[in-house]
Amino acid sequence: MVSSSAVVNGVRASLVRLAELIQSKRAVVGVIGLGYVGLPLVRAFAAGGFRCLGFDVDQSKIDKLEAGESYIRHIDSAALAQLISEERFEATADMRRLVEADCIVICVPTPLNDSRDPDLSFIEGTAQTIAKTLRPGQLIVLESTTHPTTTRTNVLPILEATGLKCGDDYFLAFSPEREDPGNPLFQASTIPKVVGGFNEESTDLACSLYGHAVVKVIRVSSLEVAEACKILENTYRAVNIALVNELKVLYDKLGIDVWEVIDAAKTKPFGFQAFYPGPGLGGHCIPIDPFYLTWLARKHGEQTRFIELAGEVNAHMPLYVVNRLAEFLNEQRKPINGSRIAILGVAYKKDVDDPRESPSFELLKLLRARGAVLSYNDPHVPVLPTMRHYPDLPAMNSEDLTPAYLGSQDCIVIATDHSAYDFDFIVTHAKFVLDTRNATRDVRRGREKIRKA
Ligand SMILES: NC(=O)c1ccc[n+]([C@@H]2O[C@H](COP(=O)([O-])OP(=O)(O)OC[C@H]3O[C@@H](n4cnc5c(N)ncnc54)[C@H](O)[C@@H]3O)[C@@H](O)[C@H]2O)c1
Repeated sequence: MVSSSAVVNGVRASLVRLAELIQSKRAVVGVIGLGYVGLPLVRAFAAGGFRCLGFDVDQSKIDKLEAGESYIRHIDSAALAQLISEERFEATADMRRLVEADCIVICVPTPLNDSRDPDLSFIEGTAQTIAKTLRPGQLIVLESTTHPTTTRTNVLPILEATGLKCGDDYFLAFSPEREDPGNPLFQASTIPKVVGGFNEESTDLACSLYGHAVVKVIRVSSLEVAEACKILENTYRAVNIALVNELKVLYDKLGIDVWEVIDAAKTKPFGFQAFYPGPGLGGHCIPIDPFYLTWLARKHGEQTRFIELAGEVNAHMPLYVVNRLAEFLNEQRKPINGSRIAILGVAYKKDVDDPRESPSFELLKLLRARGAVLSYNDPHVPVLPTMRHYPDLPAMNSEDLTPAYLGSQDCIVIATDHSAYDFDFIVTHAKFVLDTRNATRDVRRGREKIRKA
């Protein structure tokens, strides 16, 4: 992909050499941050023929990986072990080894801080670490989701402080991760990737690298377009989920099942894409990333009203679910106080083991404040993790879904519709079920025990 004219025109040897290394797949790819995004990416690069070095500050993760053990449910341990035994992948916490990597991909967290502003400390810290061993002929790609201008404003100055020149000595690009954990239809290598570089050469190199590892590369004109693209994708989801959550509340009052409405609407062959309501937004991305843009907009004297309204509607959903539960228990002459309530699913979405930002924690908090006797089940989360924003939740282990346990609960709240659940079995043995995901749509027996929320 790197044009030969660039060589003839006297571009530095570092560019020519790196382009050749990538083209021949002899480039070593370093991935920093071996989490839900970094680990699948290692797999994609290794499958594309590159030797990968994985970096993480969490030594326990490195130890597991070196033992050929995956800590992410949908990443197969056997496949990882094979990559390690074939010396196509090595995991390390020794950041000095970044000098060995020709291409460095950054996949570290981008959370919000306590005042819900972007926390770029992981990105900046990583840039500082890279700067320590930065050498001519390296390509740095940021993949962490962030607001437009981050790569140029927060990463570039740290790398430039080394005295090396971006786009000349080393190269810089942004390529947003689009991982959808738990989705069996897509993995890192089968999802098209958007790439924007600091200059033409950086974009060429990054497009060439990803071209070997993913199904399709979409080249865009700048770092900022690539950054903005990712935030658009996540904001689009947040806003549309808020819309169906709002309609759920209204339609429910009117006695209309919003899920049936959406199923009918999605038969329109154009102009409509189905989004589904739920107990609130979860995960590392959708509840967080749009607020990076809100923060940036405020800095520029602009507002992002859609984003803020969507955040408001989605954040209200756990309380709506609790109010529906109160009504449901009231029909049975029971208060929430003292009732046994079981939450099914504390992962933020179906078939994953990731509890980050899961609305189940807000449900647990609200129900605990109202005196409910709480327990939970999640086949993928055996122990309730300690969450920074929920310090008062008691320690709990996932309960087995036996007939006796189900029957002992005043209500079962379905918060996450894992495929492992047998909803016929659950409804048969439960006294009452509050379904926030339409998970019981195919249950025939015992429908009188089910309410939706
Ligand atoms: N999880 C998703 O589905 C998803 C999808 C698209 C984009 N993203 C974005 O990708 C980025 C990473 O998300 P994730 O879900 O993989 O997070 P994660 O928490 O699963 O993984 C991040 C990893 O980075 C490590 N880490 C933290 N600081 C480090 C440092 N200074 N040096 C090296 N390693 C460090 C952590 O130990 C952790 O293993 C975020 O910006 C996120 O918004 C996530």
